[in-house]
Amino acid sequence: MRERTACGTCKARSLSPFLDLGMQPPANALLGPRELEREESRFPLVLGHCGSCGLIQLLHSVSPELLFRNYVYFSSVSGSMSKHFAAYAQEVADRFVPPGGLVVELGSNDGVLLRNLLGRPLRVLGVDPAENVAEVARERGVPTIASFFGERLADEIRAQHGAASVILANNVFAHVENLEDVMRGVDRLLDERGVFVLEVPYVVDFLGHLEFDTVYHEHLYYFGVRPLMTLFGRLGFEVFEVQRKSVHGGTIRVHVRRAGQGAPKGRPIDGSVAELAALEEEEGASDPARLLRFAGDVAALREKLCSLIGELHRDKRRVVGYGAAAKGNVLLNYCGLGPDRIEYLVDATPAKQGLFSPGMRIPIKGPDLGGDRPDYVLLLAWNHSAEIMEKEQAYRQAGGRFIVPIPRVEVV
Ligand code: TMP
Repeated sequence: MRERTACGTCKARSLSPFLDLGMQPPANALLGPRELEREESRFPLVLGHCGSCGLIQLLHSVSPELLFRNYVYFSSVSGSMSKHFAAYAQEVADRFVPPGGLVVELGSNDGVLLRNLLGRPLRVLGVDPAENVAEVARERGVPTIASFFGERLADEIRAQHGAASVILANNVFAHVENLEDVMRGVDRLLDERGVFVLEVPYVVDFLGHLEFDTVYHEHLYYFGVRPLMTLFGRLGFEVFEVQRKSVHGGTIRVHVRRAGQGAPKGRPIDGSVAELAALEEEEGASDPARLLRFAGDVAALREKLCSLIGELHRDKRRVVGYGAAAKGNVLLNYCGLGPDRIEYLVDATPAKQGLFSPGMRIPIKGPDLGGDRPDYVLLLAWNHSAEIMEKEQAYRQAGGRFIVPIPRVEVV
C-alpha cells in the first residue's frame, strides 16, 4: 500500500480528503472456506480531490498484482452488460475500423466486447492481467494476452500485429495508477489516424446518485471529461466526442485521437465535449463544498440503512443480499453489516458461489430466492436492478421485498 501524494493526472501535490470509508479489504477478494482462519489485509479507503485540477481520487493505492492477477469479475454474467458491449462493438467497428484493421482492448475481461467482432473482416486482440479470465476469453475464440498493458507490451504487439485502428479501454482506465505509461503504450500502438475509446463511470452520476459504494481500491479515479481533457492534452491527444451511457450507474464513453486532426483535415470536435465539461462545472464536480455535502449524505444513508436493517432484525425478519459485487462488499463493510444481519448473499457467478464476502465474511450462494423465501433482499447490485427484478418476479409476487440502498434507501 502506498499513500498517494500527487494527482494522477495533473501531478499537483494538493490532494485533500473528503470521505473516509474506513479500513477495508480489497472489495473483490472473496475468501475460500480455508481462508477464514486467516486475518485479511485491510487498507485505508479514503477519497480525496485535487485542489488544482479537481479530479476525485483515492488517497492510497494497493498493488495491482494483488488486485488484478486472479480476478473474480466476469463481465458476461450480466445480460445488460453483454447487450451494452455488443452494441458498442458494432458501433466502433462500423465507424472506425477499416477492413483488416486491428482492434485491441485493454482490460478485455472474458471477451465480452471483442467476441462480438469475431465474424467481421477485422482482427481482434485482448489484453488482461488476469490469467483465469483471459483463459475464458481464449476459449471463446478471443485471442488474449494475460499481462498488464504499458509501453513495452505495446511495442511487442505492434511488432507482431502492426498498428491498431482502435484501442479500447472499458472500466479499466480508472484502475491504473500510471496513466502516462498506458498512454505512452497507446501512442506506440495506435495508428496515426486511429481512435482510442474508453468508458469510465461518470463523476456527475457518481455524485448525483450517491454512488459511494463504487469507491474501492481498484477505482483510483472518478473521472469527468475535464480532467481527461487535461491529461490527454498534456500527452498530445484530444477528446473529440463523448457519449453518456446508463451502465454501471452512469458512464461516459470518451473518444480520443491524436491532437490536431480537426477541421479542415478531419472531423471537428463534437459539441458533446464542451457540453459535458460545462455540466461538470455546474454540478460542482470539483467544488469542495459540494464534495463535503456528498460525504454528509453518505453518512446519513448509512444511518438510515443500518436502522432499517436493525429493526428488521429485531422483528426476526430474514434478510439476504443480492450480488456479491465489489460495490456490495464496500457497502456492507462501511455499514458494518455482517452475517448476523445479512444471512447470505446470492450471486449468479459460479466462481463466487461457496466463497465468503471480504471483511464481513457472509457466505455466497447461487440465487434461489423462490426456494428459500427470505423476507427481504438487500439489492447490493443496484446497477442491475431492472434485470434482477425481472428475474425475481415470482419471489416478489409471493410477498418478497427488496431493499434498494442507492441512491436512497427504499423498500420495494
Ligand atoms: P457489477 O455491479 O460489478 O456488475 O456486479 C454485479 C454482480 O451481481 C456480479 O457478481 C454478478 C451478479 N449478478 C447476479 O447475481 N444476478 C444478475 O442477474 C446480475 C445482472 C448480476
